[in-house]
Formats: sequence, structure tokens, C-alpha cells
Amino acid sequence: MSRAFDIVKKDPSRIIIFDTTLRDGEQSPGCSMNLEEKLKMAALLDDLGVDVIEAGFPIASPGDFEAVNEIAKVVKNATVCGLSRAKQADIEAAGNAIKPAKSKRIHTFISTSPLHMKHKLKMGPNSVIEAVHESVTLARNFTDDVEWSAEDASRTEADFLCQCVETAIAAGARVINIPDTVGYAMPDEYGRMIAMLFERVPNIDQAIISTHCHNDLGVAVANSLAGVANGARQVECTINGIGERAGNAALEEIVMALRTRGDLMPYTTGIETTKITKTSRTLSTITGFAVQPNKAIVGANAFAHASGIHQDGMLKNAQTYEIMTPESVGLSESKLVMAKHSGRAAFKSKLAELGYELGEEAFQDAFVRFKALADKKKDIFEDDLIALVEDEVIRENETIRFVSLQVQAGSKGPQIAELCLTVEGEEHCAKVEGNGPVDAIFKAIREIYPHEGARLQLYQVHAVTGGTDAQAEVTVRLAEDGKTVVGTGADADTLVASARAYIHALNKLLTKRAGFNPQTAAEAAAP
Ligand code: KIV
Ligand code: ZN
Repeated sequence: MSRAFDIVKKDPSRIIIFDTTLRDGEQSPGCSMNLEEKLKMAALLDDLGVDVIEAGFPIASPGDFEAVNEIAKVVKNATVCGLSRAKQADIEAAGNAIKPAKSKRIHTFISTSPLHMKHKLKMGPNSVIEAVHESVTLARNFTDDVEWSAEDASRTEADFLCQCVETAIAAGARVINIPDTVGYAMPDEYGRMIAMLFERVPNIDQAIISTHCHNDLGVAVANSLAGVANGARQVECTINGIGERAGNAALEEIVMALRTRGDLMPYTTGIETTKITKTSRTLSTITGFAVQPNKAIVGANAFAHASGIHQDGMLKNAQTYEIMTPESVGLSESKLVMAKHSGRAAFKSKLAELGYELGEEAFQDAFVRFKALADKKKDIFEDDLIALVEDEVIRENETIRFVSLQVQAGSKGPQIAELCLTVEGEEHCAKVEGNGPVDAIFKAIREIYPHEGARLQLYQVHAVTGGTDAQAEVTVRLAEDGKTVVGTGADADTLVASARAYIHALNKLLTKRAGFNPQTAAEAAAP
């Protein structure tokens, strides 16, 4: 059975939210995540209420296989999906990777446009039809929930698209996805394509139609909604709209559009919208991929009112300039939580309330850092604690650890960093001059732990809360041999946060160099 198919058959106004943040999103430049980060995102997506999590492309690499397999083991509610091309090895890898999931789906695809068939696949239409039939039939051996996609559907000839869709459904696909792979379609046109399938494909009632829109012309969300208006009941999307090139349709925009304009679009989703902000922020922190401030729903300015006229209206009645409340997406004033004199017990209970349970050593370190922060910063907010604890959690098993930093900076120069780190428990220090304090710190790290092949790709600072005493959250991206890693660090001192972020990225690079565990993958793949 296909859970999504059954849900929609019972309630035709229910839209299935298929999240592909961990597949189409993760494969885009600068968005890669390690296993731990993917597991964290999968848990958040499950909690957010998405119906399907596309966890990866298992044949792509052993790491992808392992990620899909581990996600399949832990997801509680959502269907876990693995992507495959129309190839036996791909489908088998996807089938094996999703095996532990409570509800599992294989998503298999092949290109159907003349351009892709000729230049990419070098296959004629008959061979493609045959591949559609064979791939769906093979996938059905692993699960009843098979989704088939026509890659580049929006540039595919209508007759051929109908023929492919009919073949996929006849072979047992329960979800038919119609991707606008290159973000070329316009909303009216995309909507008409979906309507056309309902009119012309005889067995269409045996499947759900799905949208999958890319944002090259900025209309991915509009196209997805046009698809829904014309009968699609699954929408493929990503958190913050991350994805190939200009990205995919943004989950938060689709869900809030459906909710806010229920008068025009009488559909429901299973999304708990108050969890949107947390999910969006966690993804940005993990990937270092910042959300543009004016981005709908999750941008820093999405609920900010700057002009005098707007502020005046808001004070009189929020509905004058607000079509949805900040609370409905989980945005609330960060609460004032702790004071300088709060003790260990209060600190522990506040952490538990925020959902953190630290090991003894990490807890003691976090408490020391909390006290140091409270000495420097008058008000400690929930966001401060979250930044501090997240920082502590990621450091628990690091090979290279921060010990201390002294920096000489200012306009007269020279700028010098005196840095001490432990490498596998042994302390090493360096005193290095640089072209500015951050350069000096990063050079000192390189001196203590040389890593010539790695290149700094991104250095970014943002404040956790408002005010000049706010903690700094720093993101660093390193690249080596085509692989990228992102590190984050938080501290009241921006330079300490910078050192922590770089060290975090370097630790991740070491893990990446060490590679993945073939033993785990072999065990998981065993029949
Ligand atoms: O954009 C696309 O066509 C895809 C397919 C693999 C569904 O991501
Ligand atoms: Zn895509």
C-alpha cells in the first residue's frame, strides 16, 4: 500500500508534503550535510509533520546509502524515500537503504523530453517507455509505494508524457511526479499540463499526481500551487527553498500560502506550522546557507514593520499589515530566561525544557560558559542558551579542541593571535601574526594542525540576539578535493567564535577524510 495514496483517497483535499531537503536540497553547492546533521534534520522534518522525507540518492555514494539507511531506522511518522534512476543497481540500492523504515517509498525517474532523451540518455522513445515499465516493476519488488518521475516533464511532448505516465501507473506506480526540472514553466502552463494528464491518461485515478518545481524564473511556488489547483495532491519542496541552481519550491511558502488563503485554496496539510522557524534556522546553521532577510515566511524581515505608517497601523490593529501572525510560524520574542546568579540545577532544568540532555563533561563546560556569558551580557535569552549548548554538543567528540585565545588587534598593528588547542588530548600553542585578527587566528590553527589542501570558502558572522553584547554565531566553510564542510561557533567574543567555527569545520574535514564505514553499509544492504 502507499500511505500517501490512501490518505488522499480518504480526504481529497489533503495535500501530501514531500520534503526533498535532504536530497535535491542537499546536493546543491554549499548545502552538503554529514550523517549526524542529516539525522538531525530528518528528526526535525518528522516533527514538523512532513508526509514523506526524501532522504537521499543511495547509489550516489556509500555515504548517501548510509544516510538513507540510518534515517530509515529512526524516522517515526513520515514515509522514508530513496531516489533511483531507471537502473537495476540504483533501484536495488534504494530498496536496501529504505528497508528498515516503517513506511518506505522508492522514487525512480527517467528523462522524457526530446532534448534529454537525445543528448543525455541517447535513447529513443520506445526504449524510454520500456525503461519506465521495467524500473517501476522492479521497484515494486521492494515496496508497494513507488513514485515515478518524468525528468524535464515541462519540456516533454504531451502525447509522450501521457504514454509514459500511463505505463508507470500500469506497472504499479502510486505517485506520478511531474518535475519542472529546469524551472522553465509558467504557472498557467504548468497548471494546464497537470489538468491535461487528468483529462487524457485513462488510469490516472490509480495514482496521485505530484509537483516538483525549480525556481530558475522565481515561480516555483506559484507553479506548485497551480499544480494543486489543477488536481495535484503531492507537492515536492525543500526547507528555505534550497536546491539545484535557484532552488526548489519552498515548503514554508507553500504551506503558509495554503493556510493563509484557504478561501481560495481549500486544502490542508499535516504540517505543524509553529515548527517552521526552528526547522528553517537549524538548516541554515547546519549548512551555513543564510536565508535572505526579505525571504517570505522565514526571512529576518518577514514580520518586521519599518515604515512609520505601517508601525502606526500595526499598533492600532495587527491585521492592517499582517496577513498571518509571527506566532503561526513559530516566531516569538526570544524569552528572557536566566540570570547571573542562576545555579546548576536551574541551568539543567532550563536545558531539559529546551530539549537538551548533555553528558556530564559537556554539561559542566556549558555551565562554565554560561557563567562567563552572564558576566558579560546583562540579559540571557533562550536563543543565547540554544546557541551555547548547540556549540557544546557539536564539540563533544572533536579530535581538535579549542583551549584558549589571546588576540592583539587594532589600527596600530601588528595583529597577533596566541592560540592553544588540544589535538587528540595533547595541548599545542602557536603565536602568529596575520593580516587582521581573524587571519591571525586561522593561520595559528594551520600552524598547529597543517592542512594545506583545504581552502577557506566562506566566513560569516551573525548576532544571536540584538544589542552590542549579543553572542556572535560564526560560520566557516572549508573545501578540499571538491568536498565542502561547514563549521559553526558561538561565543560572546566574535574572535573566539571564529576560532571555534574554524576548528569545528576542520574536525568535520578530518571525519570526511576518514571516510564512511563500509561495514555498516554492507550489513544494511544484506538481504
Ligand atoms: O528536478 C528534477 O527533475 C528532479 C528529479 C530527480 C525528480 O529532481
Ligand atoms: Zn529537482
